[in-house]
Amino acid sequence: MQRKWWKEAVVYQVYPRSFMDSNGDGIGDLNGVTSRLDYLAELGVDVLWLSPIYRSPNDDFGYDVSDYRAIMDEFGTMEDFDRLLQEVHARGMKLVLDLVVNHTSDEHPWFVESRKSKDSPYRDYYIWRPGRDGREPNNWRSVFTRSAWEFDADTGEYFLHLFSKRQPDLNWHNPEVRERVYEMMTWWLDKGIDGFRMDVINAIAKAEGLPDAPHTDADGYGWGGVHFLNLPKTHDYLQEMNKRVLSKYDIMTVGETGGVTTADARLFAGADRHELNMVFQFEHVDLLDSGPGGKWDVKPWSLEDMKTIMSRWQNDLYDVAWNSLFFNNHDQPRALSRFGNDGPYRVPAAKMLATFLHLLQGTPFIYQGEEIGMTNVRFAQIDDYRDVEILNLWQERVIEGGEDQELWMQRIYAKGRDNARTPMQWSASENAGFTTGTPWIAVNPNYEEINVEAERSRPDSIYQYYRKLIRLRKEHPVVVYGKYDLILSEHQQIYAYTRTLGDACWLVVNNFFAEPAEFVLPEDLRGRVDAAQLMIANYFVDSTESVRQFALRPYECRVYSL
Ligand code: GLC
Ligand code: CA
Repeated sequence: MQRKWWKEAVVYQVYPRSFMDSNGDGIGDLNGVTSRLDYLAELGVDVLWLSPIYRSPNDDFGYDVSDYRAIMDEFGTMEDFDRLLQEVHARGMKLVLDLVVNHTSDEHPWFVESRKSKDSPYRDYYIWRPGRDGREPNNWRSVFTRSAWEFDADTGEYFLHLFSKRQPDLNWHNPEVRERVYEMMTWWLDKGIDGFRMDVINAIAKAEGLPDAPHTDADGYGWGGVHFLNLPKTHDYLQEMNKRVLSKYDIMTVGETGGVTTADARLFAGADRHELNMVFQFEHVDLLDSGPGGKWDVKPWSLEDMKTIMSRWQNDLYDVAWNSLFFNNHDQPRALSRFGNDGPYRVPAAKMLATFLHLLQGTPFIYQGEEIGMTNVRFAQIDDYRDVEILNLWQERVIEGGEDQELWMQRIYAKGRDNARTPMQWSASENAGFTTGTPWIAVNPNYEEINVEAERSRPDSIYQYYRKLIRLRKEHPVVVYGKYDLILSEHQQIYAYTRTLGDACWLVVNNFFAEPAEFVLPEDLRGRVDAAQLMIANYFVDSTESVRQFALRPYECRVYSL
C-alpha cells in the first residue's frame, strides 16, 4: 500500500462560527482560531479543516457563498486569513478549506445577474426551467424545504435549489462554470492552502432532462437522489478538476458524498482514478438510527448494523481506496450522546468511541469539542435554535402542518444540527470562555463541568486520552496501514477487531454498552498471547490479567499488541 501523508494525518474540523470569538461580537472568527492554534498543536492534530469562511449572507452559515475570494465579514479579513495560514504552517500543521460549489448564495453576483433576464450571459450558470402545468418543473424535494424549485416572477421561470431557496444550484454542465470554479480553486491553492473538503460534491451533475423522482410523499414531492447523486458525469467532472487543478499540488481532498455505496467510493477515491483522496460516507450516521421515514424518524441503533456497515467499508476499500473516519461533524448530533453515553459513563464512553474509530483503517476526523466529550444540547424553546434545517422543518411540520410540538422537540434533541454548533467550551467562566459578548447560539449549560481548562489539567481526561491515541498513530504504522479483520462478529455487546501489518498484530476490544461483558479471545489468536502488550485502555488494567479472557466494564476498551 502506498504511503501518503494524508493517510497518516489526523484532521480536526473547526466550525469557525462556534469555535472562538476574538472581538466580543458573539460570533467566532479567524483571529479566534489563530489564538487557539497552540491548543490544537498540543492535541497533536496535523490538519485543520475550516467550515466555510467565505463571504456569505449566512442563510446556511457559510454554506451559501456570495464571494469565493473574500472572507465573511463576521470572520475577519483576508489579512487575518493569511496570518492564520502562516501560523498554522509555522506549527507544522496544514489547512484545508471547505469548497462549496454545488451551489452558491442567491446573493452571489453570478446569480444576481442570472436572474435578471433569460438572455443574461450568466443565465446558464444556474438551472432554470419553465414550469410544468402551472407547477414546478419536476417533483424533486429539497433537503431543507418542500420543492427543490423556486419560482422567480421577474422572468417567469423556476430555478433549482437542492438545499434552501437561497442556495441555487450551479449548472456544472456549463463548461464556463467549471472553468470559473477551477480558477478560484487554483487561486486558493496558490495562496498555500493544503486541500479541500468538498461540500455535496457527488451532487454536481444532474441527469439529463431532470426526470421526476420515482416516489413522492403525501405533499407531492419526493427524493430525486437517483437523478443527481453519484452520476457518471460527476466522475468526469472530478477527473477534469483533478487534471486541471488538484494534480498540480501535494494536497488532501475529501468529498462529502451522502448516499455513496462502497462501489461509488471506489470510483471517487480509488488510488488509480485521479479524482479524490477519500470521501465521507454516511451509512453509519444516516442509516443506523433512522427508520423508513428518514433522518427524523428516530429509531434505536444496533451494534450488529454498526458492525455490518463499518466492516463493509473497511473491507471493500482495502487496498483500493482509502476511508475517512468520523462520527461527528457540524451536521450531526454529538456521537457521544448518540452512540455512547452522556450521563454517568460519559468519560469512558467518549474514550471508547475514540478508540474504536481511530484504530480503524482510514484518516480520522475529530470535530471540535469531541476531544473534551461535549454532548448534545436540549434548548427549551424553538427560538433558541438557529439552523435553517430545523427552523424550516418546524415551520413546515409544526406551524403549517399542526404536528405535535413535543414530538418534534424530541426529534430535534436527537438529530438537530445545532447539537454540534453550540460554542466550544473553553473554560468554566461566563459563556464557556467562547465570547465576552452574547453568543450567537446559547452555550450548552454543562460547560462548567465540561471544558478545555478542566480537561487539560486532568491526566486521565478525555482530552489527554485523545493526545495519547494520536501519538500511537504516529509511532506505530500498523495503526495507519494495518489490515482490518472483524472478530467475534456475533457478540451482542463487544465490537472487536484486529489490525495486521507484517509481524504486527493489534487487538482492539470495545464494549459499546453500560452492562459489563465477557471477552474471550478467538482460538486462532491464542498463539500470540504471551507477547501481548497493552497499548491503550480507558480503565486501569492489571498487567497480570490474561488476554485470553477478561471482563469488560461499562464502555471499556482495550488495545493490545499481540
Ligand atoms: C453539506 C454541509 C451542510 C450544508 C449542505 C448544503 O451537507 O455539510 O452543512 O447545509 O451541504 O451546503
Ligand atoms: Ca467575532
